[in-house]
Amino acid sequence: MIEYKNPRFMQALLRQPVDRAPIWVMRQAGRYMPEYRAIRTKVPDFLTLCKTPELACEVTMLPIDRFGFDAAILFSDILMIPDAMQLGLKFVQNEGPTFARVITSKRDVEQLPTLDPEEDTPYIANSVQLIKKALDQKIPLIGFAGSPWTVATYMVEGKTSKQHNKIRGMVYSSPDIAHQLLSHLTTETIKYLQAQISAGVDCVMVFDTWGGVLEDNLYQEFSLQYMQQIVAALDIPVILFTKNGGRCLLQQAQTGCVGLGLDWTADLKQAKETVGDMVALQGNLDPAVLYADPTTIASKARQILDVYAGETGFIFNLGHGITPDISPEHVQVLVETVQNYV
Ligand code: CP3
Repeated sequence: MIEYKNPRFMQALLRQPVDRAPIWVMRQAGRYMPEYRAIRTKVPDFLTLCKTPELACEVTMLPIDRFGFDAAILFSDILMIPDAMQLGLKFVQNEGPTFARVITSKRDVEQLPTLDPEEDTPYIANSVQLIKKALDQKIPLIGFAGSPWTVATYMVEGKTSKQHNKIRGMVYSSPDIAHQLLSHLTTETIKYLQAQISAGVDCVMVFDTWGGVLEDNLYQEFSLQYMQQIVAALDIPVILFTKNGGRCLLQQAQTGCVGLGLDWTADLKQAKETVGDMVALQGNLDPAVLYADPTTIASKARQILDVYAGETGFIFNLGHGITPDISPEHVQVLVETVQNYV
């Protein structure tokens, strides 16, 4: 394993002794940073940013240089796989992602292409290589993909949805089509993550933003089962994050992953008791805490840090992505609170 100048993220993930809890935040390279917004104006759209390795690298490094986070995460998106499948993905300002072609039938699933990461998403490996060089073994790099279920929700709904009626309807009316789609996405996601691993990422995180909209047994059948297949296929530490997934932590821990992300609705102390020393935990400050004053931010962060005080196996993060209207000064307060916690 590579020796990092700052190894505490990988140490905490592998539950080895640490000097303090590491911190990084989901969407750390994003619109809340003026430096990001400046680079973003240089390109016509967000997807171009993701597909231009020099810019993706520059953006990845912004929060590292400004705040001194303990891990970097590849700048990209969970929708690069369906984008490469030519489904007409567009990011419309203030509306989020939309697809020109949606998946509704068995025929739609059967017509989905098989991807070759080298041919179809070459910018991913190129970005990883550039970022690794820029990081210069200072801190590790996290690769990522969406969970098959979460990516499928966008492909079936065609856009961000609150109710997910189309895909949840599919689960009940045509479970075989849903499984066929999820199996295909699982195969593609494994290849996509293997390309990131070959290019040099140190661990990978699977984002399951919408697994929590399913009842528990259906979550296990339609989301967790496929994440488990991904974990089993990869020869690298994997972090699983299901938003609103706190009810099935034990089942998640049993997949063989090394870390679990928690959103803010989960009680960290209870979660720690549930998983014991099976996995490391990552989370789980409500991103909305960052709207409060510095004293409140520091005190809420310390409440979380108290749970693992003096122990390893914990990575400080938000319970979901940081929102675009957060002040960078408040992020600075959060980072310093974690860095100075004793
Ligand atoms: O964390 C990081 O800094 C790495 C980069 C990253 C992005 N998206 C950049 C991004 C990661 C890990 C993601 C994951 C992602 N993308 C998820 C899972 C995590 C989560 O937040 O639930 C999901 C569901 C997506 C899909 C997606 N991408 C949506 C729904 C949107 C639009 C919503 C929004 O915030 O506007 C995006 C756009 C997106 N992805 C942006 C960034 C920085 C904003 C794009 C812009 O600059 O306009």
